[in-house]
Amino acid sequence: MLNDTESLIRVGTGTPAGELFRRYWQPALLSTEVPEPDGAPVRVRLLGEDLIAFRETSGRVGLVEAYCPHRRAPMFYGRNEECGLRCVYHGWKFDVDGNCVDLPTEPASSKMKDHIKITAYPTVERGGIVWTYMGPKDKMPAAPDYEWTRAPETHRSVSKTHQANNYLQGLEGGLDTAHVTYLHNNKIGDKNNLFTRDGAPRIDVHETDYGYYYVSTRNNDETHNFVRVYQYMMPFQSMRPNITSAGLATNSSVPRYDGHIWVPIDDTQTYVYNWMAGYEKNSRLEPDYVERLEFGYGRGHDDFVSGTFKLKANLENDYFIDRQKQKTESFTGIRGVNTQDVALQEGMGAIPDRSLENLGSSDRAILAMRNMLLAATKAVENGQDPRGLDPASYRNARPHDGLVPKEAAWQDAFKDGMAAKW
Ligand code: FES
Ligand SMILES: [Fe+2]
Repeated sequence: MLNDTESLIRVGTGTPAGELFRRYWQPALLSTEVPEPDGAPVRVRLLGEDLIAFRETSGRVGLVEAYCPHRRAPMFYGRNEECGLRCVYHGWKFDVDGNCVDLPTEPASSKMKDHIKITAYPTVERGGIVWTYMGPKDKMPAAPDYEWTRAPETHRSVSKTHQANNYLQGLEGGLDTAHVTYLHNNKIGDKNNLFTRDGAPRIDVHETDYGYYYVSTRNNDETHNFVRVYQYMMPFQSMRPNITSAGLATNSSVPRYDGHIWVPIDDTQTYVYNWMAGYEKNSRLEPDYVERLEFGYGRGHDDFVSGTFKLKANLENDYFIDRQKQKTESFTGIRGVNTQDVALQEGMGAIPDRSLENLGSSDRAILAMRNMLLAATKAVENGQDPRGLDPASYRNARPHDGLVPKEAAWQDAFKDGMAAKW
């Protein structure tokens, strides 16, 4: 497995995974990072490329190379004015499409401007995220259209966390229902926790045109199973249900479903986009409720180093682990459900050595994802399209969970719940 997963780790141009990921739209930054036209430009690093994002006068978001094509000055200090970004070294100016629209250091008669370009990637905004496409122009898929991006603003929310590790172990954690029983057991001995009644879930993976969904089944009691359907969307998004299980972490229970997108900054850093969406019209996600949830995940307002997406709890301070609480209260002694994930994922080292792993039956979904990504890198190398480019394949997919009578089929029990509402 070593050599194979090795080819999923590197994300720069010309690498197998890097070329694969460049075939999809992916998050570049939050819309709120560029809140207003002609506001301050923002540094973006994505798939190992340094870029600058800016919202120009008409509201469109530009995403251009971080260095000026004249003499490589940093565009970050540029003036965002009158529908373009102007380099402050010699005043060359570029629009969101990368055209040079002003080149004041040449005589007015010069045609030089017509030949100068800055690398620029197209963007669209959906679900509070600025998405970009960095692949070949003639292969650009239709804009992203996940069900949660169609939920009204009152019914969804998105946040962002920095992780100092490769994207793959993050994605693996997101497709790993088994760890919830252990890592996220925040109240030892709690009889109401659906996850701790059975610590060895059975996992069935079903391939789809967009990736797969997997069904995890835990014994709940004599008559019912606790069944959860998770979604994996190519290339690095997961979706999990919080319908029946809503409120376990927070004692509140607006039915909703959540997801993460693990976007590689480069080979050793990842931005995780954490989104949540109300299950249906009655599931409004009020701002104070969202903040309570975020706090429960360890991503509350005060959990971040101010002005960054980095958590104050980090490897340097052992995520503020409380060994006394670990004996009496929670499995980890670490506060925050996602901080627990981050502690484990960063703690593996930026890139773990997977040749030393021993995978079991609870790792089925992880293996299936790795194999699917590997097959997709091969497809791209052979000039074919990878799966999951067409929004029609994924636009109505959502996760679900619930208590299902042992003799019933989950497909019947979840039929309405899994139908898209937005
Ligand atoms: S380096 Fe940007 S205008 Fe000269
Ligand atoms: Fe987790």
